[in-house]
Amino acid sequence: MTERSPPELQIPVDFRPAWQLADSQIAQDAVAFWERNNMLSPNASVEERLSQVVCAAYDEGQMIAIATANIREVDFLRANLAMFRVSVDRNARHKRVSTALSLYAFDVLERWSQEHPEAQLMGIGAVIQSRALVEHDNHAVWPDTKLTFVGYTNDGYQFRVRWFPHGTIPRLWPGEAGAKPAK
Ligand SMILES: CC(C)(COP(=O)(O)OP(=O)(O)OC[C@H]1O[C@@H](n2cnc3c(N)ncnc32)[C@H](O)[C@@H]1OP(=O)(O)O)[C@@H](O)C(=O)NCCC(=O)NCCS
Repeated sequence: MTERSPPELQIPVDFRPAWQLADSQIAQDAVAFWERNNMLSPNASVEERLSQVVCAAYDEGQMIAIATANIREVDFLRANLAMFRVSVDRNARHKRVSTALSLYAFDVLERWSQEHPEAQLMGIGAVIQSRALVEHDNHAVWPDTKLTFVGYTNDGYQFRVRWFPHGTIPRLWPGEAGAKPAK
């Protein structure tokens, strides 16, 4: 099998990290981006969403894509994952921006996880809410992002995960905790 080369961006893009940086310029650009793309719902707290920004992509000084993550314990995997979302400006789609920004974001989060072992962040989780993406590529492992299918949400959306290389899972075994292993 031939190895697929990394995504080739079709526009010049500048990536900027934002995770836990409280960068006021990125915050201002993010709100403008969400407003421009009608991505602010009246129920969502802007402050909360800003605290979840991982990184953004810029083209000639304009924010054209944003990646956010929300760390939570995923019950059925018994692991903390960064629940990941990416949005690309309508005018900048189909140029591989989302793929490249996702890979950049995964690096930002992986590094942060290594520097903050107390967070026990084991990888990235994504609920795929774009029908177009689901219909476009039904590989269990998406070739560029390596997001791997692990099941469906109760609402029927694909749930995909990319574990960090240092990610671990509990050493659970059915039965009582502390029971001696069978010989
Ligand atoms: C979904 C979204 C992030 C894709 O961004 P993008 O920058 O256009 O995506 P890319 O150019 O990196 O494309 C990634 C792959 O998806 C495919 N793809 C992207 N949009 C597609 C569409 N509307 N229909 C079919 N395939 C599509 C591309 O062809 C590419 O496939 P390949 O890897 O086989 O070449 C963007 O459309 C968006 O922001 N949508 C609104 C928010 C959203 O749905 N976010 C996703 C939540 S999981």
